[in-house]
Amino acid sequence: MTAGRVTVNGVVVTELGSKVDPCIDEVAVDGKVVRLSDGPITIMLHKPAGVITTMKAQSDKPIVADLVPTDEYPGLYPIGRLDADTTGLLLFSTDGELGNALLHPSRHVSKTYLARVKKPLSDEAARKLREGPELDDGPTQPAEVVFADEGRKLVRITIHEGRYHQVKRMFEAVGDPVVSLHRESFGPLKLGDLKPGKWRILSDDEVAALTRSGRGEGYGETRQS
Ligand code: URA
Repeated sequence: MTAGRVTVNGVVVTELGSKVDPCIDEVAVDGKVVRLSDGPITIMLHKPAGVITTMKAQSDKPIVADLVPTDEYPGLYPIGRLDADTTGLLLFSTDGELGNALLHPSRHVSKTYLARVKKPLSDEAARKLREGPELDDGPTQPAEVVFADEGRKLVRITIHEGRYHQVKRMFEAVGDPVVSLHRESFGPLKLGDLKPGKWRILSDDEVAALTRSGRGEGYGETRQS
């Protein structure tokens, strides 16, 4: 504000603590109108490959912050992360409580990925994935595993945790590394035909379903009571 980047109804306002009426006043930063939304918003992005999950650039590599409407919704932050080379569904919200709840290990929100693997997945490797392979930070919970092509190099896997590089480490642990990874769904939400690099705001019903998702106690239950 002190740099003169903020206008209220077209007039530059530099005084910190200046008040606006979100129903009447038009606030802009660097000429771009900021939506003073009265409630939190949650969006899904189809993250393309090569984009880093961070809101702050640390190099000249592309970041997810460049793809979501941070001008309109400055409080947006990613709920979890996808590796730079992973594509697919990534959620963002201005509601910090929602993110904390969905990522809490006790919630076990399901995430489904389509993994392309180096060689046809053996029955033995699939069995180990289903049981939950041993990783260096302990065994994973059981996963659902379905062969998604006849050649068994495309595998749909659903996990109920969110550990660092979890899916890649699971396939590595059973001897068949991942070549590419795509997240198709998060809890009840599916990416659908959202194109890479595009985002959309979730409907109230979708946010409610997300809030209820997972097997654990917590946010969904307390919010609705
Ligand atoms: N598991 C991974 O290994 N990478 C991702 O990006 C997401 C889940």
